[in-house]
Amino acid sequence: MDFHREAENLVKQMTLEEKASLCSGEGFWNLKKIERLGIPTIMLSDGPHGLRKQEQGCDHIGLNTSVEATCYPTASCIACSFDPELLYQVGNTIGEEASEQGISVVLGPGVNQKRNPLCGRNFEYFSEDPLLSGELAASWIKGIQEKHVGASLKHFAANNQETKRMCINAVVDERALREIYLRPFEIAIKKSNPFTVMCAYNRLNGEYASENHELMTKILREEWGFQGSVVTDWGAICDRVKGLEAGIDLEMPAAGTVHDCEIVSAVKNGEIPEQILNTTATRITELILRTYQSKRNPSTYSAEKSHALAVRAVEESAVLLKNKYSLLPLDVHKQSVALIGAFAKYPRYQGAGSSKVNAKDLVTPYEALEKMGASFQYVPGYSLEDPDQIATEYIEEACQAACSKDVAILFIGLPESYESEGYDRESLSLPPSHLKLVDEVARVSKKTVVILMGGAPMELPFEEDVSAILLTYLAGEGVGEGIANLIFGKTSPSGKLAETFPLNKESVPSNPYFPGDGMNVEYRESIFSGYRYYVTAHSKVRYPFGYGLTYTTFEYSDLTVKSRGKYDIELTCTISNTGAVDAKEIVQLYIGHPNAQFPYAAVELRGFKKVYVPAGTSKTISFTLSKNEFEYFNIFEKRWVVDGGEYTLSIGPNCMELPLSANIQICGDVVSQKPLPLDSYMNLNMHSFGVSDADFKSLLGEKNKYSTATYPPYTIRNTLGEFAEIEGSGDVIKKIYDQSLKMAEGSTDLQEMCKKTFHYMPIRTLPIMLGASATPERVYTMVDAFNKKDFDTIAKILDVIEEETHNESGSIKS
Ligand code: BGC
Repeated sequence: MDFHREAENLVKQMTLEEKASLCSGEGFWNLKKIERLGIPTIMLSDGPHGLRKQEQGCDHIGLNTSVEATCYPTASCIACSFDPELLYQVGNTIGEEASEQGISVVLGPGVNQKRNPLCGRNFEYFSEDPLLSGELAASWIKGIQEKHVGASLKHFAANNQETKRMCINAVVDERALREIYLRPFEIAIKKSNPFTVMCAYNRLNGEYASENHELMTKILREEWGFQGSVVTDWGAICDRVKGLEAGIDLEMPAAGTVHDCEIVSAVKNGEIPEQILNTTATRITELILRTYQSKRNPSTYSAEKSHALAVRAVEESAVLLKNKYSLLPLDVHKQSVALIGAFAKYPRYQGAGSSKVNAKDLVTPYEALEKMGASFQYVPGYSLEDPDQIATEYIEEACQAACSKDVAILFIGLPESYESEGYDRESLSLPPSHLKLVDEVARVSKKTVVILMGGAPMELPFEEDVSAILLTYLAGEGVGEGIANLIFGKTSPSGKLAETFPLNKESVPSNPYFPGDGMNVEYRESIFSGYRYYVTAHSKVRYPFGYGLTYTTFEYSDLTVKSRGKYDIELTCTISNTGAVDAKEIVQLYIGHPNAQFPYAAVELRGFKKVYVPAGTSKTISFTLSKNEFEYFNIFEKRWVVDGGEYTLSIGPNCMELPLSANIQICGDVVSQKPLPLDSYMNLNMHSFGVSDADFKSLLGEKNKYSTATYPPYTIRNTLGEFAEIEGSGDVIKKIYDQSLKMAEGSTDLQEMCKKTFHYMPIRTLPIMLGASATPERVYTMVDAFNKKDFDTIAKILDVIEEETHNESGSIKS
């Protein structure tokens, strides 16, 4: 069927009101139907690490439960597989499950750059390298869309922190924007054609993403050729008409019909041409028709098959960071184990927030060891309830267990409350109780294996004191079996880090500028994000990007470089497994442009291949490069160009260990001006990153990219945290929080997380937090009253909302 033509025909038959009605959803997860024309409703659902289909009690921050689904490793974990085929399989099986459940679009994957390891939501993002993120996302999207279930590539763009995520303005120079922050989106869109893209909450260079014509139309559609629909992040829309003009198709969730009516009036009074609305209505109708196929012919999903894939994903993704004297793998028949740490029984295996899955078949490490017949004694080691409190009796018990067994396996990491959507971490530290436990156990046992769980890098002060470290990130429901298979050698680890593990937070290049001053966040590190900074500045890290060990050793040799045209280069090399165990290696290709006269990272990933090499054998690996791989974004020409001169092509096991390299000469494009050789970027400091005001100003160029919005007077765009600054507002702010927190009744942990999240939510999102009774009119009246410090009026409105909500259970529902 030609869905586009069919959609156009249907839109021709719609009234103005019907077209506008398609521009926002029906409740939390559905689109509106138009029965008269046979246009059905479709349902969206969160992902991307498994389905989060909510049948009742809807929310977008992981409060209410969802139907059971297979829970896969989160993005930060599965990215370490460097395996596009695996991502394709995962996307495909999520597609089957979604289709069986009647879900038309799964909201993911997230390809935001990991600008700083403190970002609370890094577990949901793939990598600090745009190529890796883009390639993995593209494969996942191809996998899911093959089942006629749409993906929603998110969050477009520059949503790299949770602090004030709904209003912070990211100030990014155009080259960094194109090369680092937009690049993964560009790759995924061009390679996999996602049905939808999700627009971010934040502002970018002064403009909200949801009102940003340059981003949503010029770049996304006109330059990259995106054909699908743009959906807002939940509650991202502010000015609906401006958003429509910018290229935002679907507002989610719908806050009544106020915005639809605004669209109708704007067309009627000539503020916007009807053609814009026709285009949007066509895109949404096309999305409905396209994805409705999977509802008509649902796929069948097999929980067993999906669980097996979830286990394989752990095996492919866990990263062996250390393995002194080859302590691992252990012999399940010969070595007795002290299994220490509550995470062995209650693992951290997924993140908190909107991607939270109700895992169908979680197998804990404890259960997996039992199943495997391992001889072990379990002790909790720390309290799950209070990880900041050191419990001496737990630690003594752990040391006794460690002394009485051959090996101590310690499960430690970041507790759930440390990282979540909605707020950022404050430090890279593990909880005091976990750190003390490792210290004490490592003192009494010389054979100590640490299993590290958490969504993002942590400081590892104990690194030298333990024998082995296996990083599992948040590994999904296959966590137990995956770990058991790896530590007992059923399979060899083959994951490598998709992000740097820095020594500490001070050494992270964005550290001095993260998370900004509450209004703006300057991306002063520009293109020197992640390993691009550490390698160029020769700055020390705990573990570099691309790093990971296995149970064998590999040797790299025989590099050949053949030029097949002006830019078309073919490289080959040999990888030999020189140990006694079969294993996989992730071979990485980087380029550098050593004599560039403007800032250029010493290495940039340009290719990667995961290859299985049986013990004692060798494999030949080849890479091909074309013009794209040599280009940088020239802001004066507004296009990708090649700078002529010498390039270094290097191949190796990680970005800081590149045993094979060759230099070649490449012809450049003619350009009017090259990037400025600004001192702060030409001479990077290896100890800490710093960019002068003058250099950053020059880098940004003429146009003001800062947000200058000031308050008072307060507007609907101000956050609850900002309203809380008004003297005397304490009681009504508390009332808002208390009413909102009813969603999270019964869990103190969730309530704490919610409070942090609400603090950063603009007051205009009250309909999402309090329910449909918090109408936009009432919110406007409240803002007015806040400006007048008329707290009585606010309290009265809140009482009415509470009563109405209680009577009709009036939250936005699906
Ligand atoms: C998140 C999105 C998510 C949406 C719906 C938002 O809070 O930022 O990633 O898809 O909620 O739950």
